[in-house]
Amino acid sequence: MKRILPALALAALCASAAAQQVDPNYGRNLAAPCAVCHGTNGSNAGGLPNLASQPSGYLSQQLRDFRDGKRPATIMHQIAKGYSEPEIEALAAFFAAQKAK
Ligand code: HEC
Repeated sequence: MKRILPALALAALCASAAAQQVDPNYGRNLAAPCAVCHGTNGSNAGGLPNLASQPSGYLSQQLRDFRDGKRPATIMHQIAKGYSEPEIEALAAFFAAQKAK
């Protein structure tokens, strides 16, 4: 039993990592709540920053800066705390790939 448990935990980790890689809608699904403020696919939000087609590295860094309190914010410092590193990367990649309207 002592040997089986860590193996099971590892298998579960691998399975969830693999599931995230094969789901083509992973970033889009994570990004859905952002549309309330930033507009559909991150653009056309009337006054709020456009996210669509901004460089992925810029977007992920802003999210980390909000999360870590390095960039002052009205709301994003709270929102950014809710996402893990892989989720931040997926969000940034999703918005970078969208066309700004
Ligand atoms: C409740 C409204 C709201 C929601 C929901 C929201 N944002 Fe924001 N976002 C803002 C506001 C307002 C700003 C400007 C900074 C501030 O005052 O917080 C901003 C700024 C940003 C910026 C900086 C853009 C730039 O050009 O520097 C990024 C990146 C960002 N948001 C990403 C996201 C992501 C990703 C989500 C979804 C996980 C999201 N936001 C959800 C309101 C929101």
